[in-house]
Amino acid sequence: MLSRIARLGAPLLFLVSCVAVTGATRSTEERVRELLAQMTLEEKVGQLVQYSSRDDMTGPADKSSITPKLKQGGVGSMLNVVGAEQTRRWQQIAVESSRLRIPLLFGLDVIHGYRTIFPIPLATAASWDMARIEEAERIAAREAAAAGLHWTFAPMVDIARDPRWGRIAEGAGEDPFLGSAIARARVQGFQGDNSFASTESILACAKHFAAYGAAQAGRDYFTTDVTERALREIYLPPFQAAVEAGVATFMSGFNDLDGTPCSANAFLMTQVLRGEWGFRGFVVSDWASVKEMLRHGNTPDLRDATRLAMNAGLDMDMQSEAYGPHLAELVRSGAVPMARLDEAVAAVLTMKFRLGLFDDPYRFSDPAREKATLLRPDHRAAARDLARRSCVLLKNDGTLPLRLPGARVALIGPGADSGDTHIGTWHARGQGGEATTLRAALAALLPADQFTFAAGCAFTGDDRSGLAAAKAAAQAADVVVLTLGEDHTQSGESTSRTSLELSGPQLDLLREVHAAGKPIVLVLLAGRPLMLESVLPLVNSVVLAWHPGTEGGPAIADVLTGAYNPSGKLPLTWPRSLGQVPIFYAHKMSGRPEPKGPHDRYWSRYIDSPTTPLFPFGFGLSYTTFGYEALRLSAATLRVDGSLDVTVRITNSGPHAGEEVVQLYVRDLVGSVTRPVRELKGFEKIALGAGESRDVKFTLRPADLAFWRADRTWGAEPGEFEVFVGSDANAALTARFRLE
Ligand code: BGC
Repeated sequence: MLSRIARLGAPLLFLVSCVAVTGATRSTEERVRELLAQMTLEEKVGQLVQYSSRDDMTGPADKSSITPKLKQGGVGSMLNVVGAEQTRRWQQIAVESSRLRIPLLFGLDVIHGYRTIFPIPLATAASWDMARIEEAERIAAREAAAAGLHWTFAPMVDIARDPRWGRIAEGAGEDPFLGSAIARARVQGFQGDNSFASTESILACAKHFAAYGAAQAGRDYFTTDVTERALREIYLPPFQAAVEAGVATFMSGFNDLDGTPCSANAFLMTQVLRGEWGFRGFVVSDWASVKEMLRHGNTPDLRDATRLAMNAGLDMDMQSEAYGPHLAELVRSGAVPMARLDEAVAAVLTMKFRLGLFDDPYRFSDPAREKATLLRPDHRAAARDLARRSCVLLKNDGTLPLRLPGARVALIGPGADSGDTHIGTWHARGQGGEATTLRAALAALLPADQFTFAAGCAFTGDDRSGLAAAKAAAQAADVVVLTLGEDHTQSGESTSRTSLELSGPQLDLLREVHAAGKPIVLVLLAGRPLMLESVLPLVNSVVLAWHPGTEGGPAIADVLTGAYNPSGKLPLTWPRSLGQVPIFYAHKMSGRPEPKGPHDRYWSRYIDSPTTPLFPFGFGLSYTTFGYEALRLSAATLRVDGSLDVTVRITNSGPHAGEEVVQLYVRDLVGSVTRPVRELKGFEKIALGAGESRDVKFTLRPADLAFWRADRTWGAEPGEFEVFVGSDANAALTARFRLE
């Protein structure tokens, strides 16, 4: 016991003194109530104000006049203040100079790692590996917490079905079922057991509430117009899953939804989030989104925007300078009820108590722990493991895995030696220079006389001066590893694109290299699907490696050499052309679905393209093969209060051990409203040795079949259903059952 006390150190002393002063341990609710009772109106408003600083407080931040506000208790939270030393200094001002000594909450976008950068979220979604996704966020939280942070603005759980939208990179893809599973895993990773007893967990934030990913024409920050049905069936489920996992905070979207900007949307924040889901945390606005309502045109001025946002349920104002100047007066005039203000402030204070900040405001700001934690070797190892599990093998004629002994390898292409491209967008405090690139990884594997590198060109621009050298390098090699795709500036926030063909001179580079006549393994570095129809015939194999993070190079090398047998599966439908977008597997059935013959005209089709995608949702190859057979149901009927088992036998029928993501889809054949042709309702990632077989069992319950019915209630309807089991959304094994 003694040694435990010694280890707990300062935090315990704070706790002890708190207990000593009051004579008893009070509940968080009591402590919040007592504090609220002491606060002036202005101090309450201060808790709902968040400012950003990218600078040290001794530098330009002082000029920005945040410090005087801090001393008056006029700031509740800061974003972009990072580092154990820096957070400690800011915290010191708040707790030593303000009347009530209320600590600040420090937030940052820790999107796919803090210093050790994991693959982008869309990539990790492709791993379909919930345990490892959770582990990645646990590591991100451990590093962020050691750098003084309390709160990440993640996970982004926006469903996205339009790859023109650059932020598709930040989410889990197109599917609400997979997206919900990933939302749960990521919240659990960041928040641990939700007790915040350890300094290795931080608050998570489900964003951007809601339907931000449905931006019209794939244009970031643009308007959205989705039906309540689409909202409830497609866009909201991952948010609800985050609430069920205990997520501490939400962030409102920039977009307007059905005519009301999300930051003033009472339907979302009050009716659904608090009313239907019972959320008890707080909602922060997106950056200046209260102010942006003036441009949306639903309010004439900042004072009124503040009134609308507060009354709709938005608790904290990030960077709008709206709540600070206007909220106190609005409460005094009765335009915002005091009870609403108290509810918002209590929610913020509760999080500060839960994090233990009143007991030790510097609990997270520990320079020694920071030094020992960032980029720990085990963190890098986990990043490498998740990066290789996120790679998706899209094509392989047998060129992969590479047979390296004696082979001369030419690594060609932009990004192959760029740490920045490897770590991708939103990389918190990750450094490109700390990444092990593919060039470094292959150079470490191969003797110098077997390895050459030529960038050939950049991802953008029109400099073709390197193409000839790239072709020469290909000619002198036995096999070419060619990186193409997008760099970190072409993906992420505010990177909408109207063409998803390979940008800049990349297609010319591909043609030059192809002309050398050597087998080509394409390694695609990208944050979204790019158009590959004209590319595929020119290459032998394709590994989709995304922006793979700090250990991306060794991870890709593991896949190329077969040290790791790829197991990733697409978390979205891959279009043939941008003209097919939006394209997703869970579409509705047309009344005229299939032409009967080539001359049939009036059918739902394109006259210049198939309607099918290039690769279906859930698709990904392996160096081995998997057979599916013996699909069986435990009964022909699922009772409304019962369950039904769906079992299938999977066999690794190829020569290597490997992992397979077994996927279960359901179709509701007749509903009170039309239903998607298939919906993912289960998946399991299994490992099988060569020749090994295993039964995988899924259990379906009526709740799994629920949807937003014609009478605008949520539930399943009796009738006939079809199940499909297989390795992607085209799964062919099928059976039927009835729900009664
Ligand atoms: C983004 C958010 C992010 C915020 C703070 C905004 O531009 O939309 O996702 O959390 O900035 O950095």
